[in-house]
Amino acid sequence: MRSAKDFFRPLAVGAPEPLREIPARPSRALHFFDPSNEKMAAKVPGMVGTADVLLGNLEDAVRADNKVAAREGLLRIARETEFAATQLWTRVNALDSPWFLDDITTLVPAIGDKLDVVMIPKVQGAEDIHYVDRLLAQLEAKAGLRRPLLVHAILETARGVANVEEICGASPRMQGLSLGPADLAADRRMKTTRVGGGHPGYLVRQDPESADPEAIRSTQRTTYQQDLWHYTIARMVDACATHGIFPYYGPFGDIADLVACEDQFRNAFLLGCVGAWSLHPTQIEIAHRVFSPSVDDVRHARRVVAALQVDGGDGTGAVMLDGKMEDDASLKQCLVMVELAEQLAKVDPALAEQYAALEIDP
Ligand code: GLV
Ligand code: MG
Repeated sequence: MRSAKDFFRPLAVGAPEPLREIPARPSRALHFFDPSNEKMAAKVPGMVGTADVLLGNLEDAVRADNKVAAREGLLRIARETEFAATQLWTRVNALDSPWFLDDITTLVPAIGDKLDVVMIPKVQGAEDIHYVDRLLAQLEAKAGLRRPLLVHAILETARGVANVEEICGASPRMQGLSLGPADLAADRRMKTTRVGGGHPGYLVRQDPESADPEAIRSTQRTTYQQDLWHYTIARMVDACATHGIFPYYGPFGDIADLVACEDQFRNAFLLGCVGAWSLHPTQIEIAHRVFSPSVDDVRHARRVVAALQVDGGDGTGAVMLDGKMEDDASLKQCLVMVELAEQLAKVDPALAEQYAALEIDP
């Protein structure tokens, strides 16, 4: 057993002190780029400020013979680009791959001061995070880094899902979790071949109107497609909230289907996620819009806060607004919206303008 007192001690002499709280930095879109793809890499400096997070991907989708080029490309981009408020993340190769050790031992000394978060794929349990935690501390100490790198785990194995709570609590570096629907489907032996999203076969059907077997066979009944990922996302959200870290939807592979992409992202937002991956610039706009509280939601939330807190109240008791009861608990829900809107407005001028207009016309 490790004493609670030791939890926030650096794991290597000279490594920076672990953070006690993970900052809630806007990360609505984690936009993936392949640093070995010269055309894509050349666009990265111009994308600063267009996505909350730019993420140099070294893992799946980068060909084995391009792994070194991707790593080198990321070093070059990180050194040559001024990222300002945009975060730079990377997804390194999996811990059991031939590339992970070189990824981490190359990136941390060279660009550890530029990187915000290291995404670790295929995390199975707390032991994976403990390994990365100590290794990062040793590398940070050696490189003289002043700020600890944060770790984000992708939930994409059945064992990872079974161990989700212990993964989230395994290190003060843990920043968040992403759903990895493609690898997770394969590992669970699910029978979908899509990257994220729903499946028309996963449905429930309206009850028959008659018990007559012929009518049951021949009458058309409405079906409702269900969400394959609901259970996993709900577990992720609870595990992350328990440990004060952030949950994300992962990839949505059907780039042409912007509508279904938006639906999946919105479900994740409503359930508690703070962002999603973007695999194409068109998905950045969707993620930024969907993971920002709507003007209507912010208007309502501010009215509830005003009614219960500002107008002389202390946030307790109940009031009626538009025929609906609002109390201490709905005030807390509204504060989640208001605080998120305030954080996002600081980095998104268009959003700030929309929310500010509300002040004039509440
Ligand atoms: C992402 O990495 C996934 O496997 O879906
Ligand atoms: Mg994966």
